[in-house]
Amino acid sequence: MDLHLTGKTALITGSSGGIGLATAIGLAREGATVVLNGRDAARLARAAGTLTAEVPTATVRLAVGDVATAAGTDAVLAAEPDVDILVNNAGTYGPARFADITDAEWSRYFETNVLSGVRLSRHYLTRMLGRGAGRIIFVSSDAALEVSAEMVHYAVTKTAVLTLARGLAELTRGTDVTVNSVLPGPTATDGLGGVLDTVSGQAGISRHDLEAGFFTQARRSSLLQRFADPQEVANLIVYLASPLSSVTNGAAVRAEGGILSAVV
Ligand SMILES: NC(=O)c1ccc[n+]([C@@H]2O[C@H](COP(=O)([O-])OP(=O)(O)OC[C@H]3O[C@@H](n4cnc5c(N)ncnc54)[C@H](OP(=O)(O)O)[C@@H]3O)[C@@H](O)[C@H]2O)c1
Repeated sequence: MDLHLTGKTALITGSSGGIGLATAIGLAREGATVVLNGRDAARLARAAGTLTAEVPTATVRLAVGDVATAAGTDAVLAAEPDVDILVNNAGTYGPARFADITDAEWSRYFETNVLSGVRLSRHYLTRMLGRGAGRIIFVSSDAALEVSAEMVHYAVTKTAVLTLARGLAELTRGTDVTVNSVLPGPTATDGLGGVLDTVSGQAGISRHDLEAGFFTQARRSSLLQRFADPQEVANLIVYLASPLSSVTNGAAVRAEGGILSAVV
């Protein structure tokens, strides 16, 4: 299937690794020019090397900046004033006892997981609406709908993302601009690996045993019964970035392996 992405430019936040880099690779494979974003220039350059090794024909640009801050976002916007596709992927997550989460930590979660997408969408959505075409995809989480006690702060921000995306979609009436959310489930990335290391250390069990029990205990409802590969999540994001997805707008689309049991 030709996803008609040749000639499009896509900015993927948090794309020096994980789901973001897999999405960039998927979009580049379909012919889109991709703009990688991350906070660390050296790591971003390595990611670009990985991408061009996978897709030698790719056109890749780098936009270094911390999208959790206004200044970092401004740097990204200055580097890339206009894009056809915005993937709000950058995010932070990890377990914490509710009583231990400080105001500063709540703010960091909101700045990284919610305000990053607000700021970037305020800029790019306005331009997309002016052109009458564009795609914005927010990367939420199964945690938005399946709230766990050890990640309340994370879940709150990911539910906010669903509301934000739906609200922005309301602005697109009568255009070919769409705004959707994707809800990944447990996905084998460096970020998740870090969380599993922390949990295994705190619980005093090996990483191997933790992973072995993950789908029989923590995520029993998973139909997939394994961690997703980042590319599997990216496949859905790439489709939603494509002109072919024109009738999917304001939707929260799942890529979580069937953890969420509600039909709709
Ligand atoms: N992995 C999962 O199981 C899972 C499940 C559900 C939802 N998600 C969501 O999927 C998204 C990606 O997760 P992931 O697991 O792929 O993450 P990851 O492995 O931790 O990678 C995150 C990427 O984002 C960059 N980044 C982090 N904060 C940033 C910031 N403030 N500004 C710019 N770049 C930033 C990091 O690079 P630098 O550190 O170099 O900046 C890194 O490249 C997140 O929104 C996450 O909540 C993940």
